[in-house]
Amino acid sequence: MEKVGRKDWFMGTNVVHCLRSVDNLFVVIKEFKDYPFKETKEEVLKDFEELAGKLPWSDPLKVWKINTSFKKKKRCKKINQNSRFINNTLDSHILDYYENPAIKEEISTLVGDDLASCKDEKDESSKEETQPEVLKFRVTCNRAGEKHCFSSNEATRDFGGAIQDYFKWKADMTNFDVEVLLNIHDKEIVVGIALTEESLCRRNITHFGPTTLRSTLAYGMLRLCAPQPTDIIVDPMCGTGAVPIEGATEWSNCYHIAGDNNPLAVDRAANNISSLLTKSQIKEGKVSWGLPIDAVQWDICNLPLRTGSVDIIVTDMPFGKRMGSKKRNWNLYPACLWEMSHDKKCFAKTLFGMGHVWRKVHTVWVNIGGLHAAVYLLNIHLKLLFILQNKMGKELLGDANNEDS
Ligand SMILES: C[S@@+](CC[C@H](N)C(=O)[O-])C[C@H]1O[C@@H](n2cnc3c(N)ncnc32)[C@H](O)[C@@H]1O
Repeated sequence: MEKVGRKDWFMGTNVVHCLRSVDNLFVVIKEFKDYPFKETKEEVLKDFEELAGKLPWSDPLKVWKINTSFKKKKRCKKINQNSRFINNTLDSHILDYYENPAIKEEISTLVGDDLASCKDEKDESSKEETQPEVLKFRVTCNRAGEKHCFSSNEATRDFGGAIQDYFKWKADMTNFDVEVLLNIHDKEIVVGIALTEESLCRRNITHFGPTTLRSTLAYGMLRLCAPQPTDIIVDPMCGTGAVPIEGATEWSNCYHIAGDNNPLAVDRAANNISSLLTKSQIKEGKVSWGLPIDAVQWDICNLPLRTGSVDIIVTDMPFGKRMGSKKRNWNLYPACLWEMSHDKKCFAKTLFGMGHVWRKVHTVWVNIGGLHAAVYLLNIHLKLLFILQNKMGKELLGDANNEDS
């Protein structure tokens, strides 16, 4: 969880929304590091009821309001961009250059959705003029830890009921204005108001696969590698392409290659690239001819790439849980590491065995759907790089000599 100070928030709501490694944004109403839970369920739930009236709601609600108006403005800007794009492109038939029907379909879906939401907003604003605002709200309880004598539903019900009485807001589980969060982790409680409607980790991906990586996590992995302009960045096991797609969006001055041995995965990655292109055309308001990204089908053990032609490899290997198997990983991991140089335990052991080739610089632990996964930042040993470059130089020299002869 990243924390932003109160002053920073008031100064730059839009800046906070631009953070790329954040899944969800919320404003904290109050944080209890060591909440004094009572013994019985009845007592705890009674305390939750009383808590609603004791919380400092005023500033967090101001932040929520600023955020809501910012989101409305952003939506209107997007609608304008979309209509400008339609006028500039569809009307002048520039899109006829595209043979890909998926792109055309995507555009009409995006435009259709936005126009519908624009209509809702107009209806809402005319309502606002005639009626005093009664906010609709819901409470969401996220609870982790085993020693609680109450369920999440019970906490939601009693805390939510007290909020309703306190503010005279209307409870609505689906069409709400305010989402109050009650995050309970062992003895720690954080009460907040959500500022994002859906997780930001789903940006850029329209075609999901069985193990699609969160875009926020893909961003973090790429950032660890500190890409430089003109770098060639490869994800040799790209699945739906979450890593290279995030790369093409955020590091558009590099070239990104997405590869996978499964044709279904390559197809999904290609579709995601198509959607990204459409999105960037809408944003720019004009047709652009491509993005610095490509998708290919290949086997990691036999990459069609010249030695020394890649600057960075970022990949999310199969863990052997939802994809592949631990047994297969015993062969796959060493083969991958070997090809890339020229169960977690398995990877760590493989890495240890390859200590002469790869040097582990950094390990970051992340949570992927409840699995404890490691992100390793590896550097190839300089000595080996010299040997490889030397070898390559000799090969090239050999080729030239052959050509001469
Ligand atoms: C954990 S998934 C990657 C998920 C991906 N990051 C995403 O966002 O969808 C691992 C991928 O490795 C691919 N894979 C497994 N063995 C491979 C091989 N020998 N060569 C290339 N890709 C392989 C699988 O098809 C799978 O898509």
